[in-house]
Order: sequence, then structure tokens, then C-alpha cells
Amino acid sequence: MGSLLFLLGVLQLLAAARAAYKQWIPNTNFETASNWDKERVPCASDVIHFEKNKVLSVFVGSPHTVTEMFLPLNGELLLAPGAGFAAFDGSWDSGCGSGAVLRFADAEQRSWFDPALWKDVSPAGGREPARRIFSVDEERVPCQYDDVIFQPETSFRVNLDSSQPVIRLRSISLMGQELSSAEAWAEYLGGPSAPRQFHGNGTLQVTGARCPHSSGCACGNTQDGHRICASLLGAAGCPALPCQSPLRPLGHCCGVCGAVVTLDFTPDFDLQKYQDRVVQSWLSLPKYEGVQMAISKVHSAQTFLGLLPRGSVPVIQIVLVDGGAGEQAGTAAQQLATDLVGDIAQHGAALGISSSRMEVATGSTLGGQAGGRAARRIAAGTVLGLLSGLLVLGGILFLYRKGKLRPCPLHLHRLWDQAEDTASPEPASDKGFDNPMFDVVSGLCLGIRGAWGRGGAQGSVLGVFCWGCCFPSPSFAFPSPAAAGTAGIWLGGGGAAGAGSPGPADVLPQPPVRPQRDRDLTARP
Ligand SMILES: *[C@@H]1O[C@H](CO)[C@@H](O)[C@H](O)[C@H]1NC(C)=O
Repeated sequence: MGSLLFLLGVLQLLAAARAAYKQWIPNTNFETASNWDKERVPCASDVIHFEKNKVLSVFVGSPHTVTEMFLPLNGELLLAPGAGFAAFDGSWDSGCGSGAVLRFADAEQRSWFDPALWKDVSPAGGREPARRIFSVDEERVPCQYDDVIFQPETSFRVNLDSSQPVIRLRSISLMGQELSSAEAWAEYLGGPSAPRQFHGNGTLQVTGARCPHSSGCACGNTQDGHRICASLLGAAGCPALPCQSPLRPLGHCCGVCGAVVTLDFTPDFDLQKYQDRVVQSWLSLPKYEGVQMAISKVHSAQTFLGLLPRGSVPVIQIVLVDGGAGEQAGTAAQQLATDLVGDIAQHGAALGISSSRMEVATGSTLGGQAGGRAARRIAAGTVLGLLSGLLVLGGILFLYRKGKLRPCPLHLHRLWDQAEDTASPEPASDKGFDNPMFDVVSGLCLGIRGAWGRGGAQGSVLGVFCWGCCFPSPSFAFPSPAAAGTAGIWLGGGGAAGAGSPGPADVLPQPPVRPQRDRDLTARP
């Protein structure tokens, strides 16, 4: 029995190790100077203005003397024991001058999904060098198994606008009380404060559940990723980086220089243990002093041949960055990533890691990006390009065999003629436009582009294949840029074209026609 209790205790400790506590930073307290437009707390001779139509919950911590106060139509003042308001009788000079109008700041736009408004207060941070561990941006706001803390003796107002139907949490602490069950939360929502503290179309759901997997749980904020990044970056956008082709870690708003190691894991994998291993064996070494690490489970999108989306799989993402500048940017992170991948090659099975991949972006041009993923994507893209090329070829062959298509080598020749024609100074022969209709799509071109990139060197090949073909019954055409002004005539005349009789006009892109000719054309009915 005793050992069972001990085991339960250990399990609970293990589970708690990964729990994250996130605390909401801003408040709407009366005594917070930054909540007032004059950046000071009102004094006796001031006139206090709460916006009439702004819903508010305001915590008042101490007694105040006021001259005049305008209250909102829908709001609440939460008075601490001993706090309150008394009328100013004018007799007592508090040294606050002749008085001014002080307006309460607008708390309406403070978004739940703004990482700048949350701070991580997880107790687990005590054991490891906390500043060495960071979170990707989507995990800087509360995740689905996190505990959220609104500090005691504070009021607040949070905009919950969200793209998720419900925002899941393990628990919420309010006024020093932890609510960790759906029932307790429902009761709080029924009270007077909740509608004044939370607004927007999102709904908070308290589950009381901790992440059930030793390998960790995905944060679950991907749907609101754009909201998180918009709050974080504002109009400024991402900063310039010293490395070529920065990496884009999943769940992070901006690119980074350094390394991203992606792990596939087995059920034996323990995220917390592995993080401890990395911190103890490498991150705490003097040579990795400047390196910071983010490690979490994320959902990596899978694709078929690198192009077609095919669901997602959970992987462990390790983001390594260092403070290096210029050429040095990312090199320490790259070294650490290499160490990790080497360690996994040796001990992966015991650690519960089935495979690992590494991507690197450093400031030195030669280091370049290993870019295994990018290279694979390009290779897959080329394969798919070739496949569709074959498909088009097959289609043409099929049409040809069916007699719907016959080769018409004349047309390329004609295009050439046309170019010669326009280059000649003499007026265009009238014949060329007697019948401004056509019955051919005389050119079909297929471009195949392949690209490669490795070690900073990049290049591409472009192959263009063209066929000249005749369609016995014309149904479509691409007017050339020069003929754009006459497209109406071209299309209008299509139906009158004789089957199989190639019209004299060519629809392949042609050199610009001279204005004289243009007029001739458009004048024709
Ligand atoms: C909430 O409103 C935003 C637009 O402001 C919308 O994009 C989002 O889908 C809505 N969310 C829900 C859960 O209805």
C-alpha cells in the first residue's frame, strides 16, 4: 500500500514537472498609475472619468477621497476590506493641485492571445537554467493543459476573440482561488464578475486535465497562430536576421538563425527527462553558454510527394538559437544540434527516439542550410512536375490517336513568318487579316522547373517543351498580348472557321504589331 502511494506520488511529480503556469500581467486596478491617462492615481481634487459605454471591473485597494466621479453604465468596483470612496469637502489640501480630469485607460483590446501580456511562472523553472529554455510564440500564451493565474487583489479585462470554438485550460486561479473543474468554472461564469472580465467570442473551458502523455502534448494554439503573431509583431514585422534562409520553427512567428532538430518518438519517450538530459549534458557546458533551447511536441504537416497535404503527425521540435552575430550566428546552435543528433544515433532506442532530422541556418555562407527537408521538397516537386508532364503528353497522344488532334508543324513555321513579317517595313499584307478567325491552338508549352540548393549554392533548370497542334473544331484560344485589343473579333469569329482549314492568322504570341495594323484590325467588323 505504501509503495503504491509512493508510486502515485512519483507519477504526480512527473506529471507536475511539465505543468506550466501562466500569469496574466496587466490589470484594471484603480491604484495602478498606468491605468490612467495622466499616468497617475487620481487624488482628491481630480475629476474621475470612466467611459460611459466601456464595461469594466475595477479593483479598489484603499480608501479614496473624490471630488467628482463618472461611472460606466455597466461595470463593477471591487472594494478590498477598508477601501472605499468619500466625498472631498474641499477643506483638506492633499497637495495634488487644483485638480484635473483623469480618464481610465481603455482595456478593451487586451487580447488573450498576446504573448506580451503573459509571463511564465512555472515552478519547474527553478531546477533548470530558466533563461536557457524559451517557448515558441504560440506556447507563450496558455496552452490546453496549462494553469492560468490572475493574481489575487487584481481586476482585469481580457478580449477572448479566438478562432477556436473553445479555449481549453487545466485550471484558472482568480482572487487566490484555483478553479480546476468544469463545475467550479461554470459557477464562476454565472457570477457577476465574469462577463465584465472576459469578452469577445471565445469561450474558456476548464478541464482539470493534465497532459496524459510522457512525450508531452501539443499546445493547441495553432488555430490562433495568426492572432498571436499579429499581437506580438504589430506593424513592425519580423526583424532582419544575419543568416541566409532563416528556419521557420512550427509555432514561431519569425524565422530564426540556428538549428531545428525534429524527433520522431516512440511511446517510451519522456519529454521532461530528455529536456533534463540535454540541459545537463550539453546546454550547461561553457561552450554552449549563449545557446537557448525550445523543446515541445508540435503537429507537423505531412504531404504527399512534398506537395499535397496529408494530415499531420506529432513530432518533438527542438529549436536551438544562439546570440551570435554576423558569420557566427547560429554556429554554436548548429554544433549543439550535431551533438544531439550524434547522441540520438547512439542512444536513440533507449531514449524512445526513432529518428531525427536536423535543419541549420547560420551566418556563414559555407555552413549554409543543410536543408534536408527543402531538398526533399524540391525533389518531390520535380517528380510531380515530370508526372504531370507525362500526363499531358499521354493526353495529347490519346487525342492524336483518336483523330481529334493532328500535328501541324506549319504553325511554328508560320510564327516565324509572322515575326519576319512584322519586321519588314512594308504594310502588312491584307491577306493576313482577311479572316481574323482561327481554328488552332497552335502552341502548347510545358515548363518543368527543377531547383537545387545546398551549402549556400542554389540554382535551377528550366525546361520548356512545345508542341504545335491542330484542333479540328476550335473552342479556345489565347489571344497574344499584341492582339488583346482585338480579342472580341477573334473570339466572335471562331464559330465560322472551317474545320481543318487553318486560318491565316496565327494565335501564338507575336511581336507587337505596328499601330497602323492595329487600326486595320479593329476597324474590321
Ligand atoms: C470570432 O470572430 C472572429 C472575427 O473577429 C472570427 O474570425 C472567428 O472565427 C470567431 N470565432 C468563433 C469561435 O466564432
